[in-house]
Amino acid sequence: MNKIKSIVVAGLGITLGLASCDSGNFRRTPGHIYAPDMTYSRAYDAYTSNPNLGKDSLISHLPVSGTIARGHAMPDHIAEGDSNAYKTFNTTEKFADADMKEGKRLFNIYCGICHGTALDGNGPLYSSGKFAAMPANFKDAKYLHMPVGQMYAAIKYGKNMMGSYAGQLDPHQRWMVIAYIKKVQSENGGDAFTMGTEAPKADTAKTVAKADKAVAETKTK
Ligand code: HEC
Repeated sequence: MNKIKSIVVAGLGITLGLASCDSGNFRRTPGHIYAPDMTYSRAYDAYTSNPNLGKDSLISHLPVSGTIARGHAMPDHIAEGDSNAYKTFNTTEKFADADMKEGKRLFNIYCGICHGTALDGNGPLYSSGKFAAMPANFKDAKYLHMPVGQMYAAIKYGKNMMGSYAGQLDPHQRWMVIAYIKKVQSENGGDAFTMGTEAPKADTAKTVAKADKAVAETKTK
């Protein structure tokens, strides 16, 4: 029995002794590494230099100038402030019902807060009195016949108190939003709608179906 006691006491003594060696400072060395491949990446990390590309060459490169990533739209060549060009700027794209539905969804996300989901310029941000500038009322005579290029410029560059939405909407999405606005305007005294087509675009139809599914799933939760 005494033997066991002395083993326990010795054990405690050793543990306490080791614990007291801790000076309380942070350890600055990693000690043994269990999986070095995970600690030190074998692949070149982003923003480090890659000797295969020359002495100071970085792993992350800018795209070759003049190239466009697959699936991205061509640049639009519209310059900020060139209001004459805005008026004639247009798209060759045509928009099916699915595009318009996606345009409406995007409008309600990014524009509805100010312009109102009824497109009457009376969104919650403005009607609450928190935002001083009156957003454009797209059903008003002043905007009913506004050229689509001018709308595009407003989205890309902003207009006075309205900021740019270029970072949120790519060119194709901007046109879908504009097509939606023009469609609603055509039903409220504006010009006849000319941006439409019968053939739905496969990728847009897919996006719409996905969004609808997500909404349905949220509702059942
Ligand atoms: C933070 C509020 C706000 C948001 C969000 C907003 N707008 Fe505006 N918008 C305004 C205001 C304010 C004006 C009036 C600017 C003026 O004429 O001084 C305006 C004007 C416009 C005009 C008229 C431009 C012109 O040349 O007179 C268009 C078109 C427009 N907005 C489209 C949009 C679209 C499309 C979106 C969504 C992508 C959007 N806006 C989001 C506040 C907003």
